[in-house]
Amino acid sequence: MRIGLSYDLKETIAPQQASCDDAFEEYDSSETVELIAAALGAAGHTVTMLGGGREFLGKILHDKVDFVFNIAEGRGTYRSREAQVPSILEMLDIPYSGSDPQCLAICLDKPLTKKLVASEGVSTPKWRVINDRQELRQIDSCDFPFPAIVKPAYEGSSKGIRLTSVVEDAKQAIELVESLLEKYHQPAMMEEVIVGDEVTVGIIGNSPPKILGMMRILPKQKGNYFLYTLEVKRNYLELVDYECPAGLEEKVLQRLQTSSLKAFKALGCRDLARLDFRISTAGVPYFLEINPLPGLGTHSDLVIMAKKMGWSHRQLISAVLNAALERYSQCVCV
Ligand SMILES: Nc1ncnc2c1ncn2[C@@H]1O[C@H](COP(=O)(O)OP(=O)(O)O)[C@@H](O)[C@H]1O
Ligand SMILES: [Mg+2]
Repeated sequence: MRIGLSYDLKETIAPQQASCDDAFEEYDSSETVELIAAALGAAGHTVTMLGGGREFLGKILHDKVDFVFNIAEGRGTYRSREAQVPSILEMLDIPYSGSDPQCLAICLDKPLTKKLVASEGVSTPKWRVINDRQELRQIDSCDFPFPAIVKPAYEGSSKGIRLTSVVEDAKQAIELVESLLEKYHQPAMMEEVIVGDEVTVGIIGNSPPKILGMMRILPKQKGNYFLYTLEVKRNYLELVDYECPAGLEEKVLQRLQTSSLKAFKALGCRDLARLDFRISTAGVPYFLEINPLPGLGTHSDLVIMAKKMGWSHRQLISAVLNAALERYSQCVCV
């Protein structure tokens, strides 16, 4: 099959577009793109590099492809940016891997996602959205449980989340929210801090979706609050240990699995996703967020998890591709 690969490379986006030092954190490296292309090639397909943005638009209209393997994160700071490429593919009626535009747009909006999963009975930490500067003063009067973590409402890859993101009172919260509103040009949210284990869960497939693994992320140095922040993700080899399967009680693992599958279904995810949880000291998994377009590079959590579960990178890419192809009756799997 002729498979197009859509992606956004860090280096193709002009540095002057950046308003903060983590502006390109979610974009991929050429090493990741080449690795995925090699995996698709090894599965017997011919790969066309489509890139992202305007380059993608030109190529998708002119290069004939049967299917697109999509890892493009989209452009700008719009909360629907991950839906850009899938929307165009649907317009052109070209089959593609991963979730549809509606799912991708919802899941990048953390507060909206939390509302939906909470309505399905999945526990998620208390939260409050601050849309603009006018709403800043409301933080003073609201009865919010501190400590809280302050984060941008529509980001991923720990963008805007640092070791200093935990606030102990309303005054600190106001200062931090104000700086995030200015830097990230989008609403900010405060969320109750769940002190406890950090676990990320991988899901692959559709009918039915299956748990790939549940991986606990353990700080090498025990501190006050462990946060899996940008500083930690950039220096993960020195700062964390990954434990997969997670050495948690069977009861907790069962709850994690049930909550993950419920969230995946409620949000309409397809083919793959990675979900982040914190486990309270009482053993309750609290849903933080879901990534329907998780990183697939060597240093990404889903790939680290897959390796620990005995899968090679190629097997992981093939599993995603096959899950997607099975959804399209018109595609003949090669
Ligand atoms: N409510 C919370 N309680 C404890 N830690 C949190 C909370 N929210 C975020 N964190 C920490 O910050 C990290 C990144 O937050 P997350 O919501 O997953 O954003 P991102 O989309 O950037 O990955 C989490 O993996 C976790 O370590
Ligand atoms: Mg996360």
